[in-house]
Amino acid sequence: MPLIDGFDRLHDNLRISVTDRCNIRCFYCMPEGPILFLEREEILSFEEIERVARVAVSLGVRKLRLTGGEPLVRKDLPVLVERLCAIPGVEDIGLTTNGVLLAGQAEALWRAGLRRLNVHLDTLDAERFFRITRRDDFGRVMEGLDRALELGFRVKINAVAVTNLCEPDVVPLALYGRERGVEIRYIEFMPLDAQGLWDKSKVLLQDQMMEILRREVGELVEIPDRDPRAPATEYRFADGIGKVGFISSVSKPFCLNCNRLRLTSDGKLRYCLFAIEELDVKGLLRGGGTDLELAEVIREAVRRKWLGHEIHSTQFVAPPRPMYSIGG
Ligand code: 5AD
Ligand code: SF4
Repeated sequence: MPLIDGFDRLHDNLRISVTDRCNIRCFYCMPEGPILFLEREEILSFEEIERVARVAVSLGVRKLRLTGGEPLVRKDLPVLVERLCAIPGVEDIGLTTNGVLLAGQAEALWRAGLRRLNVHLDTLDAERFFRITRRDDFGRVMEGLDRALELGFRVKINAVAVTNLCEPDVVPLALYGRERGVEIRYIEFMPLDAQGLWDKSKVLLQDQMMEILRREVGELVEIPDRDPRAPATEYRFADGIGKVGFISSVSKPFCLNCNRLRLTSDGKLRYCLFAIEELDVKGLLRGGGTDLELAEVIREAVRRKWLGHEIHSTQFVAPPRPMYSIGG
């Protein structure tokens, strides 16, 4: 039986967070001050992650994505990538990174079998990069991008869109993408930040960004959905050069197409980014649980899926874990 939830959605996508740590401090995710990170022994080992992935693949999962925190701060990540790539049935594996450590690791990741990268970068302006991330690593991210493109990775850039901050970045990012063959994906700011800064007025909306792009770069033409379950709506520029995508969780929620489950670095399964509850797999992994029992927890997570998040409802409660500890 494939993983189909109560709303007839087929689940074939597992996002795996390998650490809650990060080497920068984006304000829409992390607090500025000290953070209590998980202890090393609380984090799943590569063997444990691989085991969960194998069971998930046996249930029909075909796509894996590694996330964090920042996945490249996890020691020997290419070793995990290689193991996951070797699982029969895995059709696609991607990695989401902030790019700070990418220049040094891109080659090892390529050799391990990785071909797709999402690099998180909100601005091409070093000063604004510092304001957003509270770290001075803009140059290293740009080097990482260069190295990845040189090696032949398919790269997308994720830019979080916040009002009164990111408007000046919309066009320069699109121009960079057109020049380098990189799709820019603008992500509406979601209520997942550690400091509770989010409110609706801070979300730079897809329609606003599209208007800026149409005015200053060129007409956009929607690309018919190749994968209707992908979260981004994609457009190409009418002159044929370059693509942009929008992940509009706030203005155009895509929950109806959800095909995703998440495994946190401390071994919890989540059926939604915004879920309040989670299901424990670490206990099973470390307590002699069988693969059948693991499969049952995965099925249970799918069974519990709700129709969608309710960011707009007055009853909305932000999840107790911010983005870095869930894995985006
Ligand atoms: N809203 C929207 N996107 C966010 N990310 C991190 N925090 C938020 C937020 N509050 C994005 C980052 C990263 C991805 C995993 O999640 O850009 O690329
Ligand atoms: Fe780190 Fe990503 Fe959070 Fe930024 S959004 S602080 S890069 S985990």
